[in-house]
Amino acid sequence: MNGTRHRTTVNLSFVTLVSIVAALGGLLFGYDTAVISGAIGFMQQKFALGSVMTGWVVSSLLVGAIVGAGIAGVLSDKYGRKGMLIVAAILFSLGSIGSAIPSAISEFVAARILGGIGIGISSTLVPLYIAEIAPAKYRGRLVSLNQLAVVIGISAIYFVNRSVANAGTPAWDVSSAWRWMFGLGLIPGMAFMILLSFVPKSPRWLQKQSKSDLALQVLERINGKQQAEIELRQIEQSIRKESAGSIRQLFKPGMRVALWVGVVLAVLQQVTGINAIMYYAPEIFKQTGAGTNASLTETIIVGAVNLVFTIVALWLIDKVGRKALLLVGTAVMTISLFVVGYAFHTGNTHGPVVLVFILLFVAAFAVSMGPIVWLVIAEIFPTSIRGRATAVASVALWAADYLVSQTFPILLGGTGPSMTFWVFALLSLVAFVFTLKVVPETKEKSLEEIEHLWDAVS
Ligand code: BGC
Repeated sequence: MNGTRHRTTVNLSFVTLVSIVAALGGLLFGYDTAVISGAIGFMQQKFALGSVMTGWVVSSLLVGAIVGAGIAGVLSDKYGRKGMLIVAAILFSLGSIGSAIPSAISEFVAARILGGIGIGISSTLVPLYIAEIAPAKYRGRLVSLNQLAVVIGISAIYFVNRSVANAGTPAWDVSSAWRWMFGLGLIPGMAFMILLSFVPKSPRWLQKQSKSDLALQVLERINGKQQAEIELRQIEQSIRKESAGSIRQLFKPGMRVALWVGVVLAVLQQVTGINAIMYYAPEIFKQTGAGTNASLTETIIVGAVNLVFTIVALWLIDKVGRKALLLVGTAVMTISLFVVGYAFHTGNTHGPVVLVFILLFVAAFAVSMGPIVWLVIAEIFPTSIRGRATAVASVALWAADYLVSQTFPILLGGTGPSMTFWVFALLSLVAFVFTLKVVPETKEKSLEEIEHLWDAVS
């Protein structure tokens, strides 16, 4: 099988362009999860928010994302990946307008939930759609463009927020700046919606709908005529072998293991603490004695390191493989988190130790858990249940994100920073062991070959 694949003429620029358009969904993901960090202070003043209400205002988006991820699977198996991505772009755009114009906080929360549903849908379907159109050899890199876009979205919004906040008086900030921060999301939202109309439908989904001619056309554009026919036959065979694609299929022995791998990796991506850093970095740095300005600068460095090492991941992911990167990444994450916890434990936080090891943690996450978890959950399930199974893992990921964002401030104030980082360190160790023992290598395998990996388990 490998022999035939190497002789192909992949239209890499076409498939890259399509993947970049799809990855704009990741940009919205990054934008929308991070925009609140710059707006919340002004909103607290404007709406006189207490701490409970503040927590709800921040996390309502994540609740929407849980719902969106939940419905993305069934709906995309039925109506297609492309169609549902367009729905996600519309929801995101409506959410942006809705969060810019409210007069009451309840209207704002409703708009954030709506936008969150869009984010939940696109976070699940972008990796999946790219995985379904990408040639096996480049799949890791192409799917990870989504993660690159997430990280660019997060970094870009820090600058957008700062420029908007600097554009007017403090009174204007409280009355209007935050409205612009959310409202400007309409631009990438509309761009995503318009550009999506130019991308092809997923060939695997088309074949599942018995539209072989259309599936072949897309495969030909991507892989060239000869390889397209080979791929179509493999997809056909796999789909024929898979039974009706019912939810029950998810719980067959082989699939049960695949589902475990997906869900456990998804939860581990979050409970190892990345968003404690992404959402609360300035607060952590303040605990080391840094002033407001220094802590904001340090936060920007965190963003830059995340970006640079995501690019490194893109370069390595199809070369060294998913498993090796995950192992190295989770090992370095464990050590870095342990050292950060130890620095807080001994009170040695005034030197550069905390910053350096937090940066090391972010770098290690960016080459491993960041891109690879989204990739693995998009590629390990068979076509007939891919939408639903990926959605189950994605719901778990967003729920874990919600849990960490809600509990991190409580943990920090309660058990203190050292214990909190040690808990994250322990969970990173769990991620290392889990990868070593359970996660299969999927590098260079076609989606149909990956399906067969699970046959051995059933
Ligand atoms: C995670 C996000 C996180 C981001 C940081 C993504 O893979 O799912 O929760 O904020 O990486 O780079």
